[in-house]
Amino acid sequence: MPRTVRPTAFGTPEVLEIAQTPVPLPATDGVVVRVRAAGVNPIDWKLYSGAFHTVDDKHKDSAGVAGALPRLGLECAGVVTATGPEASGARVGDEVIVYPATGAYADYVAAPVTSLIPKPPGLPWCEAGALMLAGTTAAHALHATAVEEGDTVLVHGGSGGVGLMAVQLAADLGATVLATAAERNHELLRGLGAIPVRYGAGLLDRVRAAAPDGVTAAVDCVGTDEALDTSVQLVADRRRIASITGTDRRAAAGIKVIGNGPGQDAGVDVRRAARAGLAERAGQGGLRVLIDAVHPLEEAARAHRAGIDGHAPGKLVLVP
Ligand SMILES: NC(=O)c1ccc[n+]([C@@H]2O[C@H](COP(=O)([O-])OP(=O)(O)OC[C@H]3O[C@@H](n4cnc5c(N)ncnc54)[C@H](OP(=O)(O)O)[C@@H]3O)[C@@H](O)[C@H]2O)c1
Repeated sequence: MPRTVRPTAFGTPEVLEIAQTPVPLPATDGVVVRVRAAGVNPIDWKLYSGAFHTVDDKHKDSAGVAGALPRLGLECAGVVTATGPEASGARVGDEVIVYPATGAYADYVAAPVTSLIPKPPGLPWCEAGALMLAGTTAAHALHATAVEEGDTVLVHGGSGGVGLMAVQLAADLGATVLATAAERNHELLRGLGAIPVRYGAGLLDRVRAAAPDGVTAAVDCVGTDEALDTSVQLVADRRRIASITGTDRRAAAGIKVIGNGPGQDAGVDVRRAARAGLAERAGQGGLRVLIDAVHPLEEAARAHRAGIDGHAPGKLVLVP
């Protein structure tokens, strides 16, 4: 029987269980994909943490509305095993990336054809399954801040999943890239074309010293007050500062907050349009998808614990 990882309650990773679930049926305009690798993202544990609404013991929010437990896994790569009658362009046996996906922490996932991107033949399964959420977010952030050749862009959290993508994509655009990270990750960032800067007290002075001609744009992949305060002090035009982690302070500062939260710019079209180019570049080796650890599906809770506690640079991946 196929398996699905699902939360049994709102809470910490310990609430995750493996359930036996039937192979899904394809929608009329959709497919079923045998998952080979599913990317793990912070949103996955946030969704069942209760962070997005107050949940009581009976899984009801503060307004008394029952909170539906989420289906986990927003991205994966795998092989098409079934197609709906109107699933134009998709064939059984196609090797695909699925993004956005719903419920990809599983042996099989159903998805609309609009979520399929051909997997480049040279791109390994784990890299393919973990490329899109971080990649499209980074592409959106650089688009929102209009980063182009000649810019000097500061990426906060440059060694994270999204940060590593933002660093590479910004460097590809011809920008000078400064990236904040713990010192142990500086060599990695240098190898990707960035000037690494240690975060923490004194960050503003260190960035100024590293970029004497100034900083023209900033992308915050961390969400700290330090990242916000440093960005607004360095970048003259607040429309050229984007954060992927929304807080009230960020909205009040007049910077761009991107994502799916209330009042944020979801960038659906920008992200959708970025997918093919990301796949192509990753397939040709021009965009690296760093993998920290690969866990079997049964170890989803362990992967989430590693994500929450902090881990080495690179994506966490689940393989069925
Ligand atoms: N809005 C959106 O569409 C969207 C999309 C994806 C993710 N997100 C959110 O963005 C955040 C990052 O996601 P991710 O996947 O990149 O996470 P991640 O892979 O866990 O990376 C987090 C990074 O933050 C760095 N970090 C920790 N403390 C820091 C500090 N005080 N200052 C600067 N950097 C610090 C760490 O770098 P070191 O190891 O070098 O310390 C780590 O590499 C999460 O909150 C996630 O939910 C939003």
